Amino acid sequence: MKNIIITGGAGFIGSNFIKKIINSKYNLINIDCLTYASNLSYLKDIKDNKNYFFYKANILDQEKIIYILKKFNPLYIFNFAAETHVDNSIKDSRAFIQTNILGTYSLLNAVLKIKHKLSKDFKLFTFLQMKFLEIFLNFKKKL
Ligand SMILES: NC(=O)c1ccc[n+]([C@@H]2O[C@H](COP(=O)([O-])OP(=O)(O)OC[C@H]3O[C@@H](n4cnc5c(N)ncnc54)[C@H](O)[C@@H]3O)[C@@H](O)[C@H]2O)c1
Repeated sequence: MKNIIITGGAGFIGSNFIKKIINSKYNLINIDCLTYASNLSYLKDIKDNKNYFFYKANILDQEKIIYILKKFNPLYIFNFAAETHVDNSIKDSRAFIQTNILGTYSLLNAVLKIKHKLSKDFKLFTFLQMKFLEIFLNFKKKL
């Protein structure tokens, strides 16, 4: 069975994605560090499936990510791990920079470091980055 790694799979989009493809021919490996935004109960119906694996890990933890990449030799990675709540980013942007920028960079770097160990199907390996931008504008017309 081929493997798909999903990061942030305990969040809104990631968990729905996992549930959508749980009955496919793939093993699904969910990597999530379980921030306040996560909710493992989204996955309660599928958590005991034989083709579902969960790792509590931060995408910034390159050693652990490389360990998981080597163990599962994935065909695809879908990166949904992110800080997403715009209000929080206004109050304190640190976590956003850590996960959304440095975390993505770290994940890509982990893939680069071990790409020679990935399967012969490596050409099929896809890194898909999902981002969503919410912009609030408050214009006060000054005459
Ligand atoms: N919600 C939407 O409507 C929507 C629409 C389009 C695209 N997106 C994009 O999809 C992605 C996921 O959005 P969401 O709504 O599911 O977010 P969410 O906040 O519901 O879930 C994010 C998940 O990522 C995990 N996470 C956060 N930082 C992590 C880290 N450093 N390492 C590992 N896991 C980490 C959290 O624990 C959580 O489970 C984001 O990039 C978002 O911009 C969301």
